[in-house]
Formats: sequence, C-alpha cells, structure tokens
Amino acid sequence: MTVAELETPALLIDLDIMEANLARMAEYAGAHGLRLRPHTKTHKIPELGARQMALGAAGLTVAKTTEAEVMVRSGTKDLLIAYPVLGRKKLDRLMKVAGETRVTVALDSEYAARELSGAAQKAGREIAVLAEFDAGLGRVGVKPEEVVGLARVVSSLPSLKFDGITFYPGHIKQWDSAGEVAFQELGKLLKKVCGESRAAGLEPRIVSGGSTPTWFRSHELPELNEIRPGTYIFNDRNTMKSGACTLDQCAASMLVTVVSTAVEGQVIIDGGSKTFSSDLCVGGGVGHGCIPEAPGSVFRRMNEEHGYVDIAGTETAFEIGQRLRVIPNHICVAMNLHENVFGIRGDQVEKCWRVEGRGKLQ
Ligand SMILES: Cc1ncc(COP(=O)(O)O)c(C=O)c1O
Repeated sequence: MTVAELETPALLIDLDIMEANLARMAEYAGAHGLRLRPHTKTHKIPELGARQMALGAAGLTVAKTTEAEVMVRSGTKDLLIAYPVLGRKKLDRLMKVAGETRVTVALDSEYAARELSGAAQKAGREIAVLAEFDAGLGRVGVKPEEVVGLARVVSSLPSLKFDGITFYPGHIKQWDSAGEVAFQELGKLLKKVCGESRAAGLEPRIVSGGSTPTWFRSHELPELNEIRPGTYIFNDRNTMKSGACTLDQCAASMLVTVVSTAVEGQVIIDGGSKTFSSDLCVGGGVGHGCIPEAPGSVFRRMNEEHGYVDIAGTETAFEIGQRLRVIPNHICVAMNLHENVFGIRGDQVEKCWRVEGRGKLQ
C-alpha cells in the first residue's frame, strides 16, 4: 500500500527516522555507560519496546498497571512502573505482571510502600523500589531531604528491595538560561541526595532520571546511571522547541486532508483535538503543530474534528482535497488517540501497528 492510499487523518511514523532516533539514543547511552530504560508511554506498542530492548535497553518503563500488562508482551526482562501503584486490584494485577518479568515501582510515600509490600508478600514476590524525589517539577516525589527516610521505610518492609533513587526533570523543557540554571541545580541536588543516601548505608544501585529534552546532557550528571527518555523515539514539535532534536529527526506526522477553503485566509483540515490532542506548544509558542511544507502557516485553532490553519502568512497554495503532513506538538498524547498508526518508508506503507497501550489508564 502507498501513503496516498491511506484514509486521513492518519498518524504516520517515518521508519528511517525512527530507527535513526533509536540508534542515536542507544549509542549515546552505551558510550556514557548509562542504563537506558525508555518510557514506552510514547509509542505504547510492544513490538517497539522489543526493538528498544534489542538495541541494548536495560528494561522498559510504563506509567500504569494496565500499560505494564500490555508492555510485558514486548518480552522485556525488566519493567519499571514510574508511578505510585495504589489499591488492591491494581496491585494484584501488578503482581501477575511480576510473575512474568522483574518489576520495579517508583513511589514517594510510606503509604504506597506499605500497600506494595502487602501485595508482594501475599503474592510471594520481591518487588524492587525506587524512592522518588522532586527535582523541581513539583509533581510527585518527596523533598530531597526526605529521601533517606523513605528509603529506610522501603528497606524495612517485607518483600520490597530498595533499589535506588528516581526523579523526573520535567521542569527543564528548554535550554534557555532558566533551563541551564535548573540543570546546574539538578546536578547539585543529585550529588546531595545520593551522598546522604550512601552515608546512611542505603546505596542507590540505580539513580534514574532523564527525559527527552535533557537526554544529550545526561552524562554531565555524574550520579545518574539510568535514563528514561520516551518521546525521543518519534520526537515532536515540543522536542524541537526544546532543542533536543531537529525537524528531520521528527518521525511522527499527521497526514490530513484539506476539507474546506470556504473562509478566506484559512483552510480547514480533517483533524482537530480528537486527532492531535489539545497540548500546547512549550515556551508559549503559537499553534497545535507545524506544517513544514507550508512555512508561515499557523495551525491556530481546533474543534474536535476540525483544524483551523491560518494561511495568511504563507506563499503555499492550498486546494480542497490536498493532503498535508503536520508535526504534532505532543506525540505521546496523539498516539493515545489513534487505534492504528502507519510505519512508512518513502511513499510505501510498510507497517500498520495497533496502538495496544492506548487508553490503558488504570
Ligand atoms: C516519570 C517519567 N519518566 C520519563 C518520562 C519520559 O520523558 P520524555 O517524554 O521527555 O521523553 C516521563 C514523561 O512524561 C515521565 O513522566
């Protein structure tokens, strides 16, 4: 099948670019002695998880228990649930996953640790735990000075193994001066947290962090020994804005059709918020994606099934029925909206993947 034969809107993955992205990260991690445990919330496809493992990843990461149930099909020997798992049903399901692969859980409370310990004991399993601290995002994670206390609790609980420390540097989205300062602060914080943990006799075997915007600077953090980038496999407009990739490293694009030119200075495409997600552009950038073939156009607004593209500033001519490719702002959320995505090479459709982890939110 050719790309021209696909119905729109369709999420396309340029396989040459994706393969280069995967290889680049694997090489970087290998060259700097970093474990790579990619976050699979971006692609949600076990076959792609298997590819990451084949390229030397030490394991894979998911956010939710139901995602873990899907991603275990990749054959990974190691799965990190980078999210506190609460509630008996979820924990019992997770223990089943732990029967198939080694499971590690990131958590930030005694409550979550005790629940996990209870479920692990009941299931007769040992679960590895990473104590999460807040490195500046203000989302989850104990205060840096509370890491030792949390690690002690984890170490004292039956069926849990304290395996190290984790954080997510999601507050560093761009390499402007604020991003640079935050990165330097992160380095100091990591040194302090790891030092205190060691001094307390709690050796963090794993120090896990890393994101796509920060991936190429991970080796500047000496304490870090594991990175978990997710978006890098495809990249998106926000990754471009962060400075962590270029346009020709963006593997994912939305193939859309111009369905109306009725309003002057504007075209309507057949994808809106149900196709792209409503995620905004980092750093206050305008629009919901970019259209490289129409420089100066602005994907200004969306309804559920309509995308409003302002064409006043572009020289490109548009007509009804014309097809365009749009690089979305945030590919991870867009993937979650699509039942199938298409792997292409040139104008050939080589793969149709079911997004097996889409909608797996529990
Ligand atoms: C805990 C955690 N680790 C890793 C990642 C991957 O980061 P990125 O999307 O920048 O690749 C995320 C992304 O949301 C995350 O929440």
